Amino acid sequence: MPGITVRPSASPGTGSGDVHVQRFAVAYEYAVHFTRGLFRPANPALADALAGREPHRRHRFLAVLEEGLAACRPDLPDAITAYAAHHAGRIEAVAPPEIVPGGEAAKNDPALVETLQRRLHALGIDRHSYVVAIGGGALLDLVGYAAATAHRGVRLVRVPTTVLAQNDSGVGVKNAVNAFGVKNFLGTFAPPHAVLNDFDLLASLPRRERVAGLAEAVKVALIRDAGFFRWLEDEAGALARFEPGPAQAMIRRCAELHMRHIASGGDPFEAGSARPLDFGHWAAHRLEMLTRHALRHGEAVAVGIALDARYSVLAGLLAPGAETRVCALLDRLGLRPWHPALRLAGPDGRPALLSGLRDFREHLGGELTVTLLADIGRGVEVHAIDEGLVCSAVGWLEAREAHREAGETGEASR
Ligand SMILES: NC(=O)c1ccc[n+]([C@@H]2O[C@H](COP(=O)([O-])OP(=O)(O)OC[C@H]3O[C@@H](n4cnc5c(N)ncnc54)[C@H](O)[C@@H]3O)[C@@H](O)[C@H]2O)c1
Ligand SMILES: [Zn+2]
Repeated sequence: MPGITVRPSASPGTGSGDVHVQRFAVAYEYAVHFTRGLFRPANPALADALAGREPHRRHRFLAVLEEGLAACRPDLPDAITAYAAHHAGRIEAVAPPEIVPGGEAAKNDPALVETLQRRLHALGIDRHSYVVAIGGGALLDLVGYAAATAHRGVRLVRVPTTVLAQNDSGVGVKNAVNAFGVKNFLGTFAPPHAVLNDFDLLASLPRRERVAGLAEAVKVALIRDAGFFRWLEDEAGALARFEPGPAQAMIRRCAELHMRHIASGGDPFEAGSARPLDFGHWAAHRLEMLTRHALRHGEAVAVGIALDARYSVLAGLLAPGAETRVCALLDRLGLRPWHPALRLAGPDGRPALLSGLRDFREHLGGELTVTLLADIGRGVEVHAIDEGLVCSAVGWLEAREAHREAGETGEASR
């Protein structure tokens, strides 16, 4: 119940006085739309997202469009301006779309946050105006951070344009930029006003990026939904080819599972030490750094998933054979459950991978909490990781890869 309760000090007689405890809760609600042709004038989704809750006034917005996407889709800036003109009774574009660099490099550039904030200031974007961020997960993180810190938070509508951003990062409540050499060091928890997932925007996405986004679906299926995992196995060929029906179903289900976790997991702003949606991620984050982002996030997650699945077997948590099934699915999706960076040594001669565990704990603070697998579809949390078993799991993945390569070479020479 909201209100103030007054209770005596826990240390009576020390002169510390009484304590007034303030309590209130803020309810968040945002819609995630699954649509196509978002900027076609006849599609009401964007105008509804901006004007839906307050239909009696005109809503100002600035679109911020990722440079890489604008290069592939030079029609988009004009389409957005024309869309606003068509819906001029309800929405107003305060300027032509702002074109901003995206990708991880953008999150590493502190000047970009300030440039964006200056622009929001110059255009008079206030707490009742909107920023509509259109791009991949990195661009959404960057623009989301600039929007969340301008006026202590202006309204943000996300239009994710990668598979990973549509099925995972874009539907969540976080934003961040990298600072002081640390990924996501500066950021906020700031739920968006709405998320608009347009499947057509994925048409220009390179195949490698599409496949990388499938890793998050495997991840969330493994910790939450055995039926979804079996479905991914059944549809693996179609998903690897990114056939529209299965690809859209995959994005929708994966996004739903992420949203459900945020709403019902009991810790939407990650105050505790557990982060089940980061299954496979302690190794993934480290591999991204070790490869200087040559490995895409989803590709690194695929390796991390395979590693933690094998580790789960070695630790006696998961039935042997399940990890083989996980790796076989990753193979069929076009994700490689191995990377040579798993074998890199750190300055102290120990496997460089292992410091990923320390980084993982430091980012969250508190006790080390890693999600592993108790079954396909069921995650389990542990608070200690045996480094010897991690090395054994790496060895297993390496042997499997060598075997697979030998098989391929054998087949090719036959
Ligand atoms: N906020 C969160 O909760 C959260 C969660 C997971 C990941 N993330 C972040 O998301 C980022 C990764 O996001 P990502 O995988 O979407 O990659 P990305 O944003 O780096 O985009 C990948 C590449 O695709 C290009 N691109 C984007 N959309 C395109 C399109 N439709 N057509 C052609 N090219 C396009 C980009 O220019 C970029 O080169 C990381 O920075 C990660 O930290 C955030
Ligand atoms: Zn991820």
